Amino acid sequence: MVCLGNICRSPLAEGILASKLDSETFLVQSAGTSNYHIGEKPDRRSISTAKKHGIDISNQKAAQFTVNDFDTYDLIYAMDNSNYQNIIKLSRNAQDRKKVKLILTELHPNENLDVPDPYYGGEQGFENVFRMLDEACNQLIEKL
Ligand code: 4NP
Repeated sequence: MVCLGNICRSPLAEGILASKLDSETFLVQSAGTSNYHIGEKPDRRSISTAKKHGIDISNQKAAQFTVNDFDTYDLIYAMDNSNYQNIIKLSRNAQDRKKVKLILTELHPNENLDVPDPYYGGEQGFENVFRMLDEACNQLIEKL
């Protein structure tokens, strides 16, 4: 799960997806395309939104997406079109690129929709993001 800062959207996406899957079978992680927040905990608004839904993401630590992640993961979900382009720029070949998808295409194929960045808004934006990601994760699990 990849966003820009790895403190708002992708930590929620990681927590939501991990909560729905067996950790012995699936490795779920998140990262940011930027180096802005490396080592930081998720934004307090992401932590509290997840907690409201019974998910603890407070132990996550922000990391930057690297080219090695193409070798570690089978599926790479970008939160928005800008993240998607930044990931594609790091890809080495068609096999890498095939792994990268916009997460909301799980719900709205062919629409190229972004998960809106809630960083500069209020709590409601985080709840909105949570709901979108929860639905998208339910859908993507159907295909695993
Ligand atoms: P995220 O949100 O990409 O969902 O983690 C952001 C967090 C921080 C910044 C931008 C977006 N920032 O510019 O610091």
